[in-house]
Amino acid sequence: MNTKTATIIYHSKRGTTQKFAAEIAFYLKSRGIETKVTSITKFKAEDMDGADFIFFGCWTSGLFLILQHPEKEWVEFINKLPKNLSAKTALFTTYKVRTGSMFSNMKKYLKLKTQEASLLLQSRNGELSELNKDLISQLIDE
Ligand SMILES: Cc1cc2nc3c(=O)[nH]c(=O)nc-3n(C[C@H](O)[C@H](O)[C@H](O)COP(=O)(O)O)c2cc1C
Repeated sequence: MNTKTATIIYHSKRGTTQKFAAEIAFYLKSRGIETKVTSITKFKAEDMDGADFIFFGCWTSGLFLILQHPEKEWVEFINKLPKNLSAKTALFTTYKVRTGSMFSNMKKYLKLKTQEASLLLQSRNGELSELNKDLISQLIDE
């Protein structure tokens, strides 16, 4: 069987989402998936060539209790992506209080770009919980 590959693309201001991206990568690698991690600023188109899975991550911005949305830089990055990427898609975010409308807004911007995300991962401190590991396993074993 060919080795599956994943690309993780994150936007982080203070490092928590970067840490979460690294934890997801560590877990994917432990499951035998060849994994690249990049920030939206360092991303190059070839980073996702042939990827079976793409994980998009952004920190949660909003008014803490309401109106959560991805930051402008992330939206601008997504708008520049090609349409109809065929990889299975996952979304991740870090937050302090609640993610609220964050994932539905991320999905809205990704709508024409990727398959509907089938996995949503969230973390307050950038650590990957056992539940999140199980959810990732389900995606890669599908
Ligand atoms: C301007 C601003 C707005 C934020 N809005 C929210 C919010 O609406 N809900 C929430 O749970 N956390 C909110 N947070 C907390 C961040 O989402 C959280 O600290 C996140 O982990 C930061 O990620 P980073 O370290 O990768 O930059 C906000 C933080 C900032 C600076």
